[in-house]
Amino acid sequence: MRLLTAGESHGPGLIALIDGVPANLVLAAADIDADLRRRQLGYGRGGRQRIERDAVRITGGVRQGRTTGAPIALWIDNRDAVNWERVMSAAPVTEPAEPVTRLRPGHADLAGALKFAHGDVRDVIERASARETAARVAGGAVAKALLRLVGMDVLSETRAIGPVQSAPSFDRVAIETSDVRCADPAVSALMIEQIAKAKAEGDTLGGIVALRVSGVIAGLGTFAEWDRRLDGRIAQALMSIQAAKGVQFGDAFAQARERGSVVHDPIVTRPDGAFARTQNRAGGIEGGITNGEDLLLEVAFKPISTLMRPLPSVDLRSGAPAPAHVERSDTCVIPAAGVVAEAMLAFVLADALCAKFGEDDAGDLVAAVERYRSRLRPIDRR
Ligand SMILES: Cc1cc2nc3c(=O)[nH]c(=O)nc-3n(C[C@H](O)[C@H](O)[C@H](O)COP(=O)(O)O)c2cc1C
Repeated sequence: MRLLTAGESHGPGLIALIDGVPANLVLAAADIDADLRRRQLGYGRGGRQRIERDAVRITGGVRQGRTTGAPIALWIDNRDAVNWERVMSAAPVTEPAEPVTRLRPGHADLAGALKFAHGDVRDVIERASARETAARVAGGAVAKALLRLVGMDVLSETRAIGPVQSAPSFDRVAIETSDVRCADPAVSALMIEQIAKAKAEGDTLGGIVALRVSGVIAGLGTFAEWDRRLDGRIAQALMSIQAAKGVQFGDAFAQARERGSVVHDPIVTRPDGAFARTQNRAGGIEGGITNGEDLLLEVAFKPISTLMRPLPSVDLRSGAPAPAHVERSDTCVIPAAGVVAEAMLAFVLADALCAKFGEDDAGDLVAAVERYRSRLRPIDRR
């Protein structure tokens, strides 16, 4: 499977193009819209989310509620575009808007302008912006529909916002009713307090998102080639999210300080003959392959780069000192980042699923998974 996105933050809209999705997968715009909505919620988002009400238009690859096997094309309107027509016009305008030249530390502004020879940082901002993650979430919702067919479920929970930490329980109802997507109401309240404080001080916060995938089929990915090791592919997809700065499988960074005898997950067989583990510190991946346990991951996000009290910077044209450009912005995006991380994880898993079990027909894929699952036992007990 391949996922391409296009479109600018304040252009007419965003496109997601997903190729390689099996035919005959039941897919409705409402399935995708539910995740688009989840991405927009969360305490700490800025004014943009009050303007946008993201909804997808399926413009290819789906007919009569089912995928056809052709590339799936998804379109999301940018409602805010009406306010940006002059700035974002594809054709030259007679009175162009003032260029953005005061560089924002923490953003792609400087490196992007140097690399692409832009004299107006607007050309960088518009595509580097995380508005693009709406298209990723739409594509990820398609991947989730495929994973659901074989009983795999992807869920995120806020693990930390700034200094406030939680112990994720992955209680879906509690997560979805929390304004910061943290299942513990007391910790949620502390997180909200931190965000409000940062906002009042013109500052921003980062945090950590925890991810869990249940119902994982053992054997996705491979140890045989570096670029097909599943942990490597997942890490790349998650690290590609705007502001993501670190990924750990299980509790990898704690393990680095411990001994092998306590870290590695002992193997047992359950009464029904299935292989199992007495703990899951590997986070469900060994040797670049899923081992059948839940996938458990964490992604660290840096604080939002746009500050209402801007950092010292310089002007791209003159090189003279100037405070960084300020633009309407979020204070903390960890709740939304969790939904984006779900999408990226789901996409890599759906791709690995199709690579192993076939990408032509959803029915063939499910049948292949069922047959395969029946042999995942000790050899003499099959
Ligand atoms: C869902 C989401 C929303 C974001 N919203 C903003 C925002 O409103 N303002 C901002 O400055 N950065 C925002 N960011 C973060 C920037 O996109 C990010 O800091 C920037 O791309 C530079 O980080 P990078 O070096 O990882 O790409 C957001 C990130 C995510 C995941």
